[in-house]
Amino acid sequence: MHNNNQSEEVQRIQVDTIVQNIGQLVTMAQQPIAGATGQLQVLDNAAIAAHKGFIVWIGSNKDATSLFLQNFATEPISLLDAQERVVTPGFVDSHTHLVFAGDRAEEFHLRRSGVGYGELLAQGRGILTTMNATREADRQTLLSSAYKRLKTMSGYGTTTVEVKTGYGLNVATEEACLHIINELNTPKGNIAGQHMRVVPTFLGAHSVPPEYKARRNEYVDLVINEMLPRFAGLARFCDVFCEREAFTMQESRRILTHAKQLGYQLKLHAEQLSPSGGARLAAELGAVSADHLDYATDADLDALRDAEVVATLLPGCSYTLRSPYPSARRYLDHGLTVALATDFNPGTSYCENMQMILGLAMSAMGMTLDEALLATTIHGAKALALHDQIGSIEVGKRCELAFWSTQDYHEIGYHFGVNLVRSVLVQV
Ligand code: NIG
Ligand code: FE
Repeated sequence: MHNNNQSEEVQRIQVDTIVQNIGQLVTMAQQPIAGATGQLQVLDNAAIAAHKGFIVWIGSNKDATSLFLQNFATEPISLLDAQERVVTPGFVDSHTHLVFAGDRAEEFHLRRSGVGYGELLAQGRGILTTMNATREADRQTLLSSAYKRLKTMSGYGTTTVEVKTGYGLNVATEEACLHIINELNTPKGNIAGQHMRVVPTFLGAHSVPPEYKARRNEYVDLVINEMLPRFAGLARFCDVFCEREAFTMQESRRILTHAKQLGYQLKLHAEQLSPSGGARLAAELGAVSADHLDYATDADLDALRDAEVVATLLPGCSYTLRSPYPSARRYLDHGLTVALATDFNPGTSYCENMQMILGLAMSAMGMTLDEALLATTIHGAKALALHDQIGSIEVGKRCELAFWSTQDYHEIGYHFGVNLVRSVLVQV
């Protein structure tokens, strides 16, 4: 009787996609799901139904076909078979610098022989090496390398990527990069039939370009007076690299205050290479996230927690720069929401793979698997203020999934150095 009622009720739901035979559905749901267990709300032998890209039903695999049988007669339904393996939300990579030309292999190996990252930047290399290559590149080169990188990311399970500008550092190239980033988010950004959700961030204050070296105030004015108003419709976030070799706390405050007035949401590269005051600024201005935070003090962490700023940790940088990994336990024990991201860029983290980042967080930063999975999905979504749409598998959210080759999610972070993701689903 109960089943009949449920059946009648569910048949009224419109469905165009059913994901069947899910061995373990790791939902990361923020609200309890019937039958699901643990912090990650895992449901065994499950199925998902979706309509127009939104999840409309989550339940047992047994029920799925019978409940939605009626719909088969009236509308085409796409049936996806998870082959009794793990399904999770797609990874949300909330911090990348994906649009650039050239590479910095030479500098990477110089650093291996002892030259510091800050030293190279101070010599006009580092970010400025990539700025030169990016300014010289044509649009098509930038676009096609960006597509290729997105495709690699998608192959490792990522379904949403935040992408920053910051290698143009003049009006024309910053604008061109923002158009490219927005283009990546359209169905034309479809790579081999696969869409990727792309979130644009303006990072004009990534470094002072050489032509403004002797008059840095004028570059800050350019960012504030020309770039910010001009790009307001093109970027969701404004970010600043608040660091000794980049922008001071006072300069960062000026830029971000104007950005906020223009409707940008805020992010900060804070306390990465030295204590910069960026964390306190992020708290003061109500930034959505503060990223890196290697040098954040306990007082900084308290301020971020109280202001509900997400702490985004980027272990790919510690790996590349061979700097000490910050202990994730410290951030978690301060009650912060911790996200993990690749920071994909040619200088400090040339890595598209969120599985690698998750593994590093577990092996070198002391995170548990459950914490690392939350940090790479729903907390990544929080770091983009998109947690009401993506980052977990719940009715009403977007159906953006990673299909794994493993039957038990406990293999994630344990079986390392191989790709455990078979495919992703993003429905637009
Ligand atoms: O997040 N810190 C500033 N920006 C990047 C590095 C960019 C680069 O070196 O090209 C980062 O580490
Ligand atoms: Fe970064």
